Amino acid sequence: MTATIAVLSQKGGTGKTTTVRTLADILRRVGVATLAVDLDPQGNLSDYFDVPPETAPTVADMLMGGATPSEATYADVIPANLNLAEAELSLGGKIGRELTLRRALAKAPEEYELIMIDCPPSLGLLTVNALVAADYALVTAQGQYFALQGVEQAMEVVELARETLNEELELLGILLGLADMRTVHSREALASLQESFPGKVFSSVIRSSIAYAESAERAVSIVDYRPDLARDYLALADEVLARVGGFEQARRQLEEITPVRPEHAAS
Ligand SMILES: Nc1ncnc2c1ncn2[C@@H]1O[C@H](COP(=O)(O)OP(=O)(O)OP(=O)(O)O)[C@@H](O)[C@H]1O
Ligand SMILES: [Mg+2]
Repeated sequence: MTATIAVLSQKGGTGKTTTVRTLADILRRVGVATLAVDLDPQGNLSDYFDVPPETAPTVADMLMGGATPSEATYADVIPANLNLAEAELSLGGKIGRELTLRRALAKAPEEYELIMIDCPPSLGLLTVNALVAADYALVTAQGQYFALQGVEQAMEVVELARETLNEELELLGILLGLADMRTVHSREALASLQESFPGKVFSSVIRSSIAYAESAERAVSIVDYRPDLARDYLALADEVLARVGGFEQARRQLEEITPVRPEHAAS
């Protein structure tokens, strides 16, 4: 059985793509066959994974019925580009438009144990498609003022998807990223999320560091670029696997990845 996780947020720049990229990388390292789906016309996930820009077919072709998931997969990534914006527009007029991704991914190769979907920074039709295709929603929030407000809006859409189109959908958790716990507003953001969504906020908080932008630019995983920082995502990977369940072997292997701080690294 494949478990599908949609990573979403109402706001832009909350770390969705970095989370999909990094979790997919870590999970593959511990033997979890993971398919990453770029569902954002910006194509950032495809860039982070260094998929050549002209790669075709893409997720847009898959949604329009012109390619199967296997045909649209390039190195365990189903990439996206601006064609996805057009595909979203033409889906808009169709009956069953919210079910398109679910139907397409039903044909994804069975050997994938996890599918992670990177949503665009809006709660429109593409994000709804991801929530209808998913078993779990992972909501990202930035460790700043107004974190709670963005999460509340995302949660409303998760609820709506569950009530109307996908009653199996579960909230996997809320992730606080780009946080600096030395600052009052990151601490307040965490506290207000924990208060509003008890038991749902991941204990792993992702620290803010310029190293994320640097590693994205170089298309290198943070695990290799700054193993010391990658501890945050290693801990998150463990929480994610524990919440999904059934990945004991992979969780044991996670313990063996022990990141060290490179001598030369700046903070
Ligand atoms: N923990 C972090 N600390 C600092 N910068 C980060 C962190 N995680 C990601 N970033 C950087 O912040 C920017 C936004 O991150 P990312 O692309 O993952 O967010 P996103 O939610 O997918 O954005 P969008 O809404 O535009 O799709 C990128 O430049 C990324 O490198
Ligand atoms: Mg993104």
